[in-house]
Amino acid sequence: MVASSLFVGVASLVASITVSSALTIAQINGNKFVSPYNGQTVANVSGIVTAKGPDGLWLRSTVPDYDDSTSESVYVFGRAFATNLTIGDAITIGGKVQEYRSNKDYVHLTEISSPVLQSKGSIGNRVKALAIGKDTRGPPTEQFSSLDGGDVFTVPNNVSLISVANPVLEPHKYGMDFWESLSGELVTVRKPTAIAKPNNYGDTWVYGDWKVTGKNDRDGLTMTDKDANPETIIIGSPLDGTSNPPTTKLGDDLEEITGVVSYAFGFYRILPKTAIKVIKSQAPTLPSSTKLLSEGKCSGITFGAYNVENLAPNSSHLPTIASHIVSYLTSPDFLFLQEIQDDNGPTNDAVVTANLTLSTLTAAISAAGGPDYAFTDIAPSDDQDGGQPGGNIRVAYFYKPSLIRLFKPNPGGSLDANEVLSGPTLKFNPGRIDPTNEAWKASRKPLVAEWEIVGKNGTGDGKFFTVNVHFGSKGGSSSMQGDARPPVNGGVEDRQAQTELTANFIKSILTLDKQASIITAGDFNEFAFVKPMTTYAQTSGLKDLDEVAGIKKLERYTYLYDMNAQQLDHMYVSEAVAKKAKYEHVHVNSWTDTAGMVSDHDPSVAKLYVCG
Ligand SMILES: *[C@@H]1O[C@H](CO)[C@@H](O)[C@H](O)[C@H]1NC(C)=O
Ligand SMILES: *[C@@H]1O[C@H](CO)[C@@H](O)[C@H](O)[C@H]1NC(C)=O
Ligand SMILES: *[C@@H]1O[C@H](CO)[C@@H](O)[C@H](O)[C@H]1NC(C)=O
Ligand SMILES: *[C@@H]1O[C@H](CO)[C@@H](O)[C@H](O)[C@H]1NC(C)=O
Ligand SMILES: *[C@@H]1O[C@H](CO)[C@@H](O)[C@H](O)[C@H]1NC(C)=O
Ligand SMILES: *[C@@H]1O[C@H](CO)[C@@H](O)[C@H](O)[C@H]1NC(C)=O
Repeated sequence: MVASSLFVGVASLVASITVSSALTIAQINGNKFVSPYNGQTVANVSGIVTAKGPDGLWLRSTVPDYDDSTSESVYVFGRAFATNLTIGDAITIGGKVQEYRSNKDYVHLTEISSPVLQSKGSIGNRVKALAIGKDTRGPPTEQFSSLDGGDVFTVPNNVSLISVANPVLEPHKYGMDFWESLSGELVTVRKPTAIAKPNNYGDTWVYGDWKVTGKNDRDGLTMTDKDANPETIIIGSPLDGTSNPPTTKLGDDLEEITGVVSYAFGFYRILPKTAIKVIKSQAPTLPSSTKLLSEGKCSGITFGAYNVENLAPNSSHLPTIASHIVSYLTSPDFLFLQEIQDDNGPTNDAVVTANLTLSTLTAAISAAGGPDYAFTDIAPSDDQDGGQPGGNIRVAYFYKPSLIRLFKPNPGGSLDANEVLSGPTLKFNPGRIDPTNEAWKASRKPLVAEWEIVGKNGTGDGKFFTVNVHFGSKGGSSSMQGDARPPVNGGVEDRQAQTELTANFIKSILTLDKQASIITAGDFNEFAFVKPMTTYAQTSGLKDLDEVAGIKKLERYTYLYDMNAQQLDHMYVSEAVAKKAKYEHVHVNSWTDTAGMVSDHDPSVAKLYVCG
């Protein structure tokens, strides 16, 4: 760019919206996100047609500047304009430089709109795609943008906007900058691996044969602290009008993909020339059953946790949830369940009880060869806990009554705040934590309970507390590759307040008895290394069971979202329980294809010592 930088400086001083000299495509793109010529009319832009789509074509410069941060290609938007042109045509065009986005939370795509053909030169020019990681360097593997302060989950979020700050691209350092610097370019992804199921439009996240970090045993990429995998790219709608298959799954090997780099719906994407094809899938299709088996006594009690996704009595996925519990979780002694709906599911009326939902599930478990579980929950006040309208989702416990029972049961009502009494013991068993606190608005209240192990002679030989949580969702989050930097982590303030209330409740038990056995589990809707959860561990005095049990960092996932295998579901335990603790995440849902999925979360199982 050195030779022409003076020229660009002069051009940008010109008040007229018409640029009076020829520009290269690299000059039009510039070395930032927003074009220096945004809104201006340009002429004599020369290039070779590299690809055609339903609404336009892609043009690659014939005069490259060899600067990594200025893309040599651009999208030319105009359906009629493209009709008479063919891949390999050398053309010179004029038009208007435009930064387009369909939503204010997205990053703009630089394009030339209202194109006019000034001249057509040679035809049949050879068009070769750039191989990412070979002809071009590979994408950076950790950071998305220079505006993220080193961590996409920094609080506060959304302190700057790409469209306003318009930083100079550093494609060697930042993933968004890397893809922006290839905007409009025809590229090849060699040896692609799918890292998620496609969305409803068939868009599928992949990485290629370049360097990646975070690769788990299934070949997905796990999100870790300060690394949310910017080296990935979503494969969007094929240019030839075909559709990507709906059955692709985590870890599938795909045929080589060639397409153009674009941006739409919040993400950089490659629009492939034709639909992606799966070459080979991971085997076995489903994980094996957990190896954590109950010892039937306090020295080895098994605890399962499962977000069963809007479970109603007549849910079509209920029998499969039951068979997961029996066949893959091997019927744990105790279960923390989340997203149990009321007895008529999403029907929006005054019904809030879930006895029918819970007894339908226990019956299905018995029918599948599992134990006869007993259950307990507290019905929420109608329409106060968020989730699917009318569903009144809540958390619930299942337990084997021959082995475990509530200690002096005294259930609280939906608005009763539980308290820790000297003992320590609970005022309500079970009872909800501070249910009228503003922090729980439109969210599930944690359910605290105190349990005893039923000894052989019926007198009990171990006591423990549990807290079953389903914190506020990440709804309202902006895209990982959106305009807001760091991205908006939806509901993070709510979760911060919720973790503080819950952690302080737990702390008050441990203050009375350092040796108390406490197990908290559920859908925390947050990552262990992000602030609400680091506060949770610090304040409560509990330990992250993944750490305690030594689960490998890259195998810590219970959920697939966008490009990441990630962990929203956790168990945290007190010191007394941490001894010899074992833990497994059972990937029954993240490994299957979309049709085989029965919940958006994977369940987990722990084996714990609760003889305290
Ligand atoms: C475009 O190129 C033509 C032919 O070289 C020239 O006559 C014309 O002035 C150029 N227009 C601009 C805007 O550079
Ligand atoms: C495309 O070519 C046809 C046939 O030569 C012509 O009639 C038509 O006007 C051209 N369309 C455009 C958009 O140039
Ligand atoms: C379950 O029952 C509700 C009414 O209680 C109904 O609206 C819904 O369609 C039913 N769902 C299924 C899967 O049968
Ligand atoms: C729900 O089930 C519990 C425990 O099985 C029982 O004590 C309670 O009376 C039931 N409630 C209703 C409304 O049926
Ligand atoms: C019952 O079991 C407890 C502990 O499991 C033991 O301390 C107690 O002696 C037993 N009582 C009888 C009557 O066997
Ligand atoms: C980020 O903040 C800007 C104001 O600076 C606001 O306009 C925008 O809506 C916010 N983005 C999101 C996704 O909330």
